[in-house]
Amino acid sequence: MYPSAAGSANPQTASSPARAAGDGTWPLPTGFASGATEVSLIPVLEDNYVFVLHGGGNGGTGLSDGPAGQAVVVDPAVAEPVIAWLDKHQLEPIAVLHTHHHHDHIGGTPELLQRWPQLQVIAAAADRQRIPCQTQGVGDGDRLNLLGREILVWAMPGHTRAHIAYYLPPLAGPLDQQSQGELFCGDTLFAGGCGRLLEGTPEQLWQSLQRLAALPAATRVWCSHEYTEANLRWAHHLHPHDQAIKERFQQVLSERAAQRPTIPTTIGEELLSNLFMRSRDAGEFAHYRHSKDHWRG
Ligand SMILES: [Fe+2]
Repeated sequence: MYPSAAGSANPQTASSPARAAGDGTWPLPTGFASGATEVSLIPVLEDNYVFVLHGGGNGGTGLSDGPAGQAVVVDPAVAEPVIAWLDKHQLEPIAVLHTHHHHDHIGGTPELLQRWPQLQVIAAAADRQRIPCQTQGVGDGDRLNLLGREILVWAMPGHTRAHIAYYLPPLAGPLDQQSQGELFCGDTLFAGGCGRLLEGTPEQLWQSLQRLAALPAATRVWCSHEYTEANLRWAHHLHPHDQAIKERFQQVLSERAAQRPTIPTTIGEELLSNLFMRSRDAGEFAHYRHSKDHWRG
């Protein structure tokens, strides 16, 4: 179920930590401060990723002193592989975070609730009708605290009208032990691309991306789909002489040929080679969105 090759999830990002072989986990740097969390990635369906934030320890990495045994699940498209993964790693979920209402982001939640009825289900209050299992509605500017980490909620309109993202600022620590921030952005920003405009305007989605662009370059971006190869193929077709796009396309081809995920990416990488993040205004963004929507490469 998980790609088995070890190595960097994103070889273009020197600061990306090495991946723990075989279990879809990318640990934070060794020796990280107390309270550290890890993010694990579970590939499901055709190209979705479900993310699990956990305190470490039980994942076999032994890197952190975090609250091992508890976990937070982000956008469970389905339940069965998520339950199997949590059981395997002896983790109990305390909360589910939803970025938006599409079925391939919320479909597994009812079954997770059957197994763990105390689970908090956190989602946009503005989408209560379309995310019926939610137990806590949130909106722009809200702050959560889960697993000892602060989680900021940001409105990300564009793909859907009530789409939200969750940002975990880096934990403070000595310079050589600082963590990267973590961003769970659903279908707003993709590696090399962005979500389609299903319920928003180009201006809205461009503004949402601009907000993400202001995050620290090292922020790890956990986007919900493995669309990177198609995105880079399109960008390379439009700008065949763009060196950043060309190099990334080649790297992505080699990652995918080895059946490795291209997620997480980083904000810094997206600013270099993502045409939507590089767009200088909403007009340029709209031009690229239209191009990608009609591209049949
Ligand atoms: Fe979506």
